[in-house]
Formats: sequence, structure tokens, C-alpha cells
Amino acid sequence: MRAAVLFNYKEPLKIESVEISDPKENEVLIKVTATGLCHSDVNVFVGATPVPPPVVAGHEISGVVEKVGPGVTRVKPGDRVISAFIHPCGKCRNCVTGHENLCETFASVRLKGTMFDGTTRLRLKDGTPVRTFLGGGFAEYAVVHENALTVVPSDIPLEKVAVLGCAGLTGYGAVNEAKIEPGESVAVIGVGGVGLSVIQLLRASGAGRIIALGTKKWKLEKALELGATDVINTKETDPVKALKEMTGGGPDVVIEAAGTSETIQMALDSVRIGGRVILVGLPPVTAQIPFRVASIVRNGITIKGNYGGRPRVDMPRLLELVRLGKYDPTKLVTGKFKLEEINEAVKLLEEGEAIRSLIIP
Ligand code: CU
Repeated sequence: MRAAVLFNYKEPLKIESVEISDPKENEVLIKVTATGLCHSDVNVFVGATPVPPPVVAGHEISGVVEKVGPGVTRVKPGDRVISAFIHPCGKCRNCVTGHENLCETFASVRLKGTMFDGTTRLRLKDGTPVRTFLGGGFAEYAVVHENALTVVPSDIPLEKVAVLGCAGLTGYGAVNEAKIEPGESVAVIGVGGVGLSVIQLLRASGAGRIIALGTKKWKLEKALELGATDVINTKETDPVKALKEMTGGGPDVVIEAAGTSETIQMALDSVRIGGRVILVGLPPVTAQIPFRVASIVRNGITIKGNYGGRPRVDMPRLLELVRLGKYDPTKLVTGKFKLEEINEAVKLLEEGEAIRSLIIP
């Protein structure tokens, strides 16, 4: 099959013929329909998330089940599915206590780019193993763990929901973790795939003022269209000052979805006394920020990291929100590219000129 393979960090992907083996225990072979391109993929391409090459990225996968491995019960051949970027083992302590987004087994292989057994299902013609980053959807086929998969109801087009796999699930997890009370003011920093999902889900959850912060006018306009009540262009306005003025002391909750040191600092500086900061944007693995600990203590600030969502619990709910029209993932898609055109899509994302591009193999 064809796959977009990264051979060296910071180099363009190459479309290669790659061999894919049958799914093993609890694994599923999917024929890919469409996969969204996310900043986390680009972090791998540039080495900021250092999965060793050769590697195939792509973790917002939609497709049709081709074959199932031994023991698979969640799906059967022919099922239309989406794959979450989180692949829970279902057996570790976090999985059995309802926190499968923090699966320990998955965490142990995530940056190695292997399946749970430490091996890969992809290899080059010369036998070299090819790793995958959270699924390997930039290819004609992918093998993933069955617990990452959710069957898509027949009345929802597959392509439409590909971006639920990361942007949707992460947005859902962030809003869920924030435990929004009706009417609370929320600032959302970052208006990419995750931020625009957060905004839609905040509206669905009864938040009051929803203030979107970003640097691109067209993305902020999209935020207004999807439920933001106010926007702040952080290039034109002092964001911390503006947030404090608009909300009389700072938002109750700040959801940070941009993942830079600067924006994380912005979140900590702007939240109100007693407020909550939810960090969901993923900075490079080496990123560190200094912050004034005394003000976190005195102001009783809660800082909570949140990683994705629970595929088997949250994904069916998200699909229901899509069906009800309360969450529209198509608003996140700004372009469609063939597998051969993936480097163009990467360039657009790096330049900030895309939200989600769908890669169609
Ligand atoms: Cu992602």
C-alpha cells in the first residue's frame, strides 16, 4: 500500500510503498477514507515530538473495517469507524477507573510508535520496520487497537467526522474537565481545530461569555460563527488586560488550546481569583515556562492538564452532538488533499493558513 513516510525530521514526507501485516490480538485493519492533519503530526515531522523515523503519522482517522484480529468484539468487517488518537488497553488502572484517556499501556508506547507488544505492523520493502504515530492514518490502510474505534451511525458521512479523532475528542475532554456551570465566563486561547471544537462544545454546555483569543482574523471570525460571544486578536490588543476588563477581574475558566509558552503564560495571568486553567494545547516535549507561584497560591488557581478524551465514552456522545447539529466538525475543515499532496497541506498548517486539512488516500 501507499503511505506518506517521514524518513528524516524536517524533510518532506515521501510517498512510499509500504507493507502492512494482518492485525494481531485486539487489533483492526482499516481502509482509510480520510485522515485529518493536526499540529501534533507536524511536531513529529520536525522532531519536536521525537518518534523515531521512519514513521507514518496521522491520527484523525475515518475508514471502513477491512479485517479484525483475534479477540476483537467492538467492530466487524464492513463497519464504518472513526479512530481516536488515544488507544486504550482497557485493562490498566486508569482504564478500569474511567480514565482511559490516560491509559498507562498506551502512554508507554506512544512516543515509540509501536503497537502494545512493541512491534510495528508496517515495514519497508527491505524489511525495515516503520513506526506509526497514534495510528498512522496518512496511508491507504492502518492497524489500530479496537478500543480506539467507534462505529459511525449510517446517517453520518464518514469524511465529516474524521476530525473527531483528535480535535473533537480533545475539545470534549477539555470542556468536560472544566466542569462548566451555566453562565460561567470562559476564555479559549487558540482557534485551531481544538479551540473551535471547545467553543462549540462550550456553547452546548451552557457557558456564558465565551471569549476566543487568536492571531488570525479569519479564524476569529469562524470562532464568532461557532459560538464565541467575543474575540480578542492577541496581536492587536493586550489580551490579559482585555480579558480582565471584559469579565470584571478575569474569566472563571481559561482553556489553553494553542500550546505555546506565551499562551500558557497568558492563561495563568488572566484567570480570575479562584479560577481554573485547563491546559490542552501540546507544546514541544522540552517546553518549560517560569510562573509566579505565589499568585497561583494566593489566588487559589487550579491548573489542570487534560489529555484528549475517552474514546469509548466520549466519542459516542460527540457523534450524537454532531447528529443534533450542536457540534459541526465540517466547520474545522479548510481543505482536502490527496496523499501525494500532503506536503502542501503541512506547509499551509505551519503557516497558520489551515485549520484541518483532510488527507484522502
Ligand atoms: Cu491531534
